[in-house]
Amino acid sequence: MQTIAPTLTPEQILFFHINGFLSVPVPATTPEELEIMRLAYDRIFQERAGRAQGDQFDLGGTDEEGTEENLPQILNPAKYAPELKSGMFLNNLDAIVKQLLGSDASAGVAHAIYKPAGHGAATPWHQDEAYWNPDLQYKSVSIWMPLQEATAENGCLWFMPGSHEWEVLPHQSIGGDVRIHGLEMVDLTPIQNPVCCPLPPGGCTIHRNRTAHYAGPNTSSLPRRALILGAGLAAHPYPGKRSFPWNDIKRTPREERAAAART
Ligand code: NI
Repeated sequence: MQTIAPTLTPEQILFFHINGFLSVPVPATTPEELEIMRLAYDRIFQERAGRAQGDQFDLGGTDEEGTEENLPQILNPAKYAPELKSGMFLNNLDAIVKQLLGSDASAGVAHAIYKPAGHGAATPWHQDEAYWNPDLQYKSVSIWMPLQEATAENGCLWFMPGSHEWEVLPHQSIGGDVRIHGLEMVDLTPIQNPVCCPLPPGGCTIHRNRTAHYAGPNTSSLPRRALILGAGLAAHPYPGKRSFPWNDIKRTPREERAAAART
């Protein structure tokens, strides 16, 4: 059986720092643990766990009740599925992250994005930092782990090499609709020769906070399940002034539900 949780080679670490992403096409856990995780994952998406709290929502649509979901997402899925809270996958991904960012970084499960069979929408080109607080300077990574094979057909990730060195470029809610949580880069001309990263079940890609990335629609006959983990060093005040106005003008039903749940 192939070794799980590879120690990254110096070449892989160098590739990551030069390109702002790395594909690790080796499973981070056993088929048995992946099966347990898949069952838990499907259960919480079926229950729409966390909807009332604003943790479950349609990342790619207006998220109104009764509309078909394009791109359902659950924040903090381990809150609703303890099976996703710990395990071999987390220990191994944590070890990989420490090789890339140092021992102060530790991996935690952040969110889950489900692409329904046949109609899951594309996740447009974006930089993750565009979602965050513009007053802070980040050094972090996202780890994307599919719970089944990920292919160009079902929506694996694509990356733009070197884009981690860019500033955060202008973004907008998908299609310019401020009811939609998901963001997209406004101008795609900087995206040239992106790299497609298919993965086996339990493999992963790792990318930096400004690395531009994209996932295609799911045109296959099976759902595409992805678990996303985050890890980072402490954020510092951003040196200088910047603003992310696309977040200030967003008016999503998700935020309304989250605000109602807090009161
Ligand atoms: Ni992203």
